Amino acid sequence: MLNKRPDDMQRIESQAQAQAFIDEQIAAIRAQVGDQKVLLALSGGVDSSVVAALLIRAIGKNLVCVHVNHGLLRKGESEQVIKVFGEEMDANLVYVDAVDRFLDKLAGVTDPEEKRKVIGAEFIRVFEEEARKQEGIGFLAQGTIYPDILESGTVKAHHNVGGLPEDLDFKLVEPIRLLFKDEVRVVGKALGLPDGMVYRQPFPGPGLGVRCLGAITRDRLEAVRESDAILREEFAANGLAGKVWQYFTIVPDFKSTGVKDGKRSFEWPVIIRAVNTRDAMSATVEDVPFSLLQHITQRITNEVKGVNRVLYDLTPKPTGTIEWE
Ligand code: XMP
Repeated sequence: MLNKRPDDMQRIESQAQAQAFIDEQIAAIRAQVGDQKVLLALSGGVDSSVVAALLIRAIGKNLVCVHVNHGLLRKGESEQVIKVFGEEMDANLVYVDAVDRFLDKLAGVTDPEEKRKVIGAEFIRVFEEEARKQEGIGFLAQGTIYPDILESGTVKAHHNVGGLPEDLDFKLVEPIRLLFKDEVRVVGKALGLPDGMVYRQPFPGPGLGVRCLGAITRDRLEAVRESDAILREEFAANGLAGKVWQYFTIVPDFKSTGVKDGKRSFEWPVIIRAVNTRDAMSATVEDVPFSLLQHITQRITNEVKGVNRVLYDLTPKPTGTIEWE
């Protein structure tokens, strides 16, 4: 398989170029896999979604999409995968509710690197179990993109841990491996994926797990998910969603005093982060209008259970990283 982008390869910028790429890849996928089945871990992120949509066009139900809900996804993401792929595209979709498994494994784990490892290892385990239930799988599709090849020289190491066991060592199908992210988005648009999927902001592999600081608990995880949903809704309503590179909320593992309904409260704060960057190596803080920050604060403290304060992180990278972990 060609793993270097040819010097004369045209950039995919227009819908016509995307359509030509789609036609080419459909033929290439059919030639590669014949009538064998292909397995894909479909997170709902832009890369795996574009690969899924391409393969569905090429081989229909011979693509088996496995969506693992590990409980660390943003609000509405699993539902969107089911709606777009299961219902609208009528894909062969296996939905795995692994929320309890992941949260049980993560109970009491405080170290960020350890949390990452637990999430990655459990993901591989769940995916392996699903792979073993399927018969006649010959290939594994992956959403590897060109920066993954440039950075690692190998295939996308999902969640930074190993891969499937050797007896499940399927041949790889990587139709977007020579594309840059912006090209993947153009192809996604041409494939008819919803904008919410195509223009999604970067989201770490371990998901909300890195934003629920310290040991993950269900109630604080819910506070991260609900406050993130409010922030995204307000940024979209106020023209910031397409402008700001990455924005999200964090819930630390300490409480502070407050007053709610005339009574003293002792609850968590929510921290808002909104940054702009080119390459994520350095970042500046978005100058969010103060009135909007006040409005978001009011919504979060009113609507999110267990939260009595909202803070805005004013720190550029460096000295802060983008995530808190
Ligand atoms: P930091 O926090 O290092 O983040 O300034 C830079 C960018 O990388 C993302 N990020 C991750 N992505 N797995 C990922 O796939 C991770 O463990 C991870 N940690 C950080 C972060 O969201 C930001 O865009």
